[in-house]
Amino acid sequence: MSQLIAPSLLSANFLNLEKDIRMLNESEADWFHLDIMDGLFVPNISFGFPIIEKIRKATSKILDVHLMIVDPERYLERFKKAGADIISIHIEASKKPGEALKSIRSLGAKAGIVINPGTPVSTLAGVIHEADMVLLMSVNPGFGGQSFIPGTLDKISELQQMIKSQKTKVLIEVDGGINLNNATALIHAGVDILVAGNTIFASPDPALTIHRLKSMC
Ligand code: DX5
Ligand code: ZN
Repeated sequence: MSQLIAPSLLSANFLNLEKDIRMLNESEADWFHLDIMDGLFVPNISFGFPIIEKIRKATSKILDVHLMIVDPERYLERFKKAGADIISIHIEASKKPGEALKSIRSLGAKAGIVINPGTPVSTLAGVIHEADMVLLMSVNPGFGGQSFIPGTLDKISELQQMIKSQKTKVLIEVDGGINLNNATALIHAGVDILVAGNTIFASPDPALTIHRLKSMC
């Protein structure tokens, strides 16, 4: 499959979200990436259920919900009800990530597992078979607009080896600091989904930037 582009709405204009959603709907963007932060797992707070529900009503594209919250199992059902198609949890934030992934699937959503830049790929060994997607963070989570951590490329090949040796099927998503310069290396490395916030929304023509990213895929 050719790679998918998932714009992160963290960098959208919350004073006029409708306009950005309309732009994304008409653009070549594949998914909406929604970053949920609780002020505990990361030193920032973003947005919650009412906003997700409104976004759900305004688009038919896939809602890819990235939970940066402690003990995410407390809220899985509510995120599904709010309209999430994919729910990703951090391995560092959950006491029983394997169980949480099973719960996400039993709710009828796709299950994603996320690791921070400092977390080794090997930590995924016991849970990867419960996941539909692995999200590799290429910045420390909490804020948009940070610089891509190059070591992520090595983690991609390590992850691919694990996927092969475990004979499982998961999509690989990368999130943080992706721009028009480093996207090609990620695509060549075998990433399936590229998340981009600042690169898209801080550009003069976000739809054109999405088009440019998509043309590389
Ligand atoms: C970081 C978030 C990312 C971030 C991506 O905590 O998970 O999704 O918003 O934004 P950029 O592309 O600006 O790094
Ligand atoms: Zn994210």
